[in-house]
Amino acid sequence: MRIGVLTGGGDCPGLNAVIRAVVRKGVKEYGHEFVGFRDGWKGPLENYTMELNLETTRGILPRGGTILGSSRTNPFKIENGVERIKQNLSDQGIDALIAIGGEDTLGVATKLDSLGVKVIGVPKTIDNDLNNTDYTFGFDTSVNIAVEAIDRLHTTAESHHRALVVEVMGRHAGWIALHSGMAGGAACILIPEVKFSVDKVCEWVESRFKSSYAPIIVIAEGAIPQDGDMITKDSELDAFGHVKLSGIGEWLAKQIEAKTGKEARTSVLGHIQRGGTPTAFDRVLATRFGLQAITAASEGDWGKMVALHGTDIVRVPLASATEKLKTVPIERYKESEIFFG
Ligand code: F6P
Repeated sequence: MRIGVLTGGGDCPGLNAVIRAVVRKGVKEYGHEFVGFRDGWKGPLENYTMELNLETTRGILPRGGTILGSSRTNPFKIENGVERIKQNLSDQGIDALIAIGGEDTLGVATKLDSLGVKVIGVPKTIDNDLNNTDYTFGFDTSVNIAVEAIDRLHTTAESHHRALVVEVMGRHAGWIALHSGMAGGAACILIPEVKFSVDKVCEWVESRFKSSYAPIIVIAEGAIPQDGDMITKDSELDAFGHVKLSGIGEWLAKQIEAKTGKEARTSVLGHIQRGGTPTAFDRVLATRFGLQAITAASEGDWGKMVALHGTDIVRVPLASATEKLKTVPIERYKESEIFFG
């Protein structure tokens, strides 16, 4: 078989581990050939390719990013996008595609599957918000990066008797904030799923200062105050209709200063959370996803996504990945509340 591989959407540590596993098992066990499509859906749309074989995938396991490149190209927003993809796949003699991506990339894969393109999906996102898989790779790495930052911010916040607001990624789902805040001993954790009260946050801040311990407030970029709206960086939309977020941390720090009289500063972790080498957990998860994806393709089990259920790697319908967003359940958030303040 001749199989195309692409990575789409925001990059994420572990993408290269998936590519390596797909190619290694595909070549050695099944004798497949591969074509690497560059920059997400732009690759099959514009016939933008690279060689993908045992040689080009050597040494990439610990490397962050993706050797294939990525983009947020949406073929359904481009004239004749689907027809062009189908034509290019046929010209290249491609039998099937393995699409590694999050909500947007797998949403496109699902639609293409229903239009007759043979696709297998692999779930990636640092946000961990894809449905029907317990975890996505990349999430563990980003949480560990955020926890290291929180640990470091604790000591400087204490020295200066400041409140420090740490803004982490998470547009509609607060998984990174919840896990890094819990692991980092945050004074409070604010997530998009639960609107927050600025007065309550200030109470928690004051209470932590009373114990001569500086408060760290972990906030997801998509968190929303009870009396306000989501804060966006600008109003421009990408091809999937998303605005750029960031700014809520800065806004909250100003509110804390105004209401408590204590100095408050903000650290926005931004793309640091997405860059660099994956943790061992993510390398193993990504590798196991890749192995299962190529086995599914070899068996012709199209329209499936590989997923983690417990400790097993299983196959689920591709459409189920984007049926709904996997947000933080309220009970999970409530577990963390006992540590606030
Ligand atoms: O989708 C993952 C994500 O990390 C979101 O949490 C964040 O809002 C977005 O990507 C940022 O994407 P970009 O780097 O394209 O601005």
